[in-house]
Amino acid sequence: MLEIINLKKTFKNGSSALKGINLKINKGEFVSILGPSGSGKTTLLRTINGLENISGGEIYFDNIKIGHNSILEVQKKTGMIFQEFNLVNNLSAINNVLTGLLSSSNKFLSLFYLFKKSQKIKALKSLETVGLLNKSYNRSDELSGGQRQRVGIARAIIKKPLLLLADEPVASLDPKAANLILSLLKKINKEFGTTILCNLHQVDLAKKYSDRLVGILDGKIFFDEKPQNINKNNLKKIYI
Ligand SMILES: Nc1ncnc2c1ncn2[C@@H]1O[C@H](COP(=O)(O)OP(=O)(O)OP(=O)(O)O)[C@@H](O)[C@H]1O
Ligand SMILES: [Mg+2]
Repeated sequence: MLEIINLKKTFKNGSSALKGINLKINKGEFVSILGPSGSGKTTLLRTINGLENISGGEIYFDNIKIGHNSILEVQKKTGMIFQEFNLVNNLSAINNVLTGLLSSSNKFLSLFYLFKKSQKIKALKSLETVGLLNKSYNRSDELSGGQRQRVGIARAIIKKPLLLLADEPVASLDPKAANLILSLLKKINKEFGTTILCNLHQVDLAKKYSDRLVGILDGKIFFDEKPQNINKNNLKKIYI
């Protein structure tokens, strides 16, 4: 469902973040990306959903070639989860989730929070999936870090995306909350067949929840293995 061929990304300042990435991800897979700070993990996710232009290579997603003409379609079919949750603090959980239905072209509507009843029901269902129905009308700044990230996930899944991109979704959480978030992603992966591509720093969590681990070092893929085949040699080079 996702095929990345010789993907390259060089920023305007000359910094080369991706140096020829080849990666194929099947529908329903849970793949984690490991790699040191600055290796290109965030850039990779951002190129997949069109937040960054690419400098070379090709990306095919659900049989669509990603480019200027297909970005809206790709963004409709992908959900994104962030390390810092990116919620609007003074809004309720449900309104934060509803913003997941807005494309960038009608973002101004969000100023008025004019949503239909059917959309609100969808938002409540998403909050129920992440176990937060009882917090639907709490302001997001009244929630714990782990709960905020669950709102972030509810927002990402409200459109029923084919692909969820998660950029270090548990980096600011304690181990218990981190496990809860990853088991939730695993549940979404299994129940809805959502493909998951997740940047992680914690090797043990990546091994526990993923079908495949991909190591990136200096903009290149360094290993691509099943969790049971990951060895010290794989990890030594990326975490020295
Ligand atoms: N907007 C940008 N302009 C210029 N260079 C950038 C930009 N974004 C990222 N880079 C550079 O690209 C490289 C990869 O960055 P990226 O954020 O993808 O790394 P990362 O693996 O996500 O790191 P971390 O684990 O710290 O989040 C780095 O050298 C970074 O400095
Ligand atoms: Mg990053």
